[in-house]
Amino acid sequence: MDALEAIKTRRSIRKYKSTPVDDKAVQAVLEAGRWAPSWANTQCWRFIVVRDSKIKAEVADTLSRFKRPDGVIVENAGMKAINTVPVLIVVCAQMGRSGCRPDGETVTDKGDWYMFDTALAVQNMVLAAHALGLGTVIIGAFDAPRAAAILGVPAGYSLVTLFPLGVPDEEPKIRPRKELSEIAFYDKFGVE
Ligand SMILES: Cc1cc2nc3c(=O)[nH]c(=O)nc-3n(C[C@H](O)[C@H](O)[C@H](O)COP(=O)(O)O)c2cc1C
Repeated sequence: MDALEAIKTRRSIRKYKSTPVDDKAVQAVLEAGRWAPSWANTQCWRFIVVRDSKIKAEVADTLSRFKRPDGVIVENAGMKAINTVPVLIVVCAQMGRSGCRPDGETVTDKGDWYMFDTALAVQNMVLAAHALGLGTVIIGAFDAPRAAAILGVPAGYSLVTLFPLGVPDEEPKIRPRKELSEIAFYDKFGVE
């Protein structure tokens, strides 16, 4: 699968088979993350591969629950996914490195660029997973400090995101995207 095809055919997968995922596939996914670009090549990302089902369940429990307008509490769809898949990838970042001088002072108006760098690594990983026939869904709505405590993430690191890695058991519908004319401008902002 070439890069453009992988980008266009990847979908967030929320229903998985419990089929095993071998270490070779996990290594290939991590390797894709490792080769992402980063601020001054600082590579602030750290990845935790969770296979232990008890730890996976504890982390799954940190995912947010939402109250619908009718009062019904719904779980983050990722919760069931994490409990089904054999592998959970957790992405952390060392703070005060990306977009920062050696003394930790930030260089731009954006502050610490760790979210940016980790997102690049995550996108590489989810695309690599897809190219290998595996599914993922990036999870943002969860109690990150609680998950960090469960996983022993040390001070100075932020637990940014996590995603299940497994064999898809659904072919989700395409989520629509804005037209290019709405988001791409020429020469000046707003000029189509
Ligand atoms: C930063 C980020 C956080 C997300 N958090 C969640 C989440 O907590 N739960 C979930 O089910 N999906 C989550 N998603 C998946 C998005 O809902 C999904 O990418 C989007 O609807 C587009 O669908 P697609 O990925 O199938 O193209 C997240 C995606 C991103 C990029």
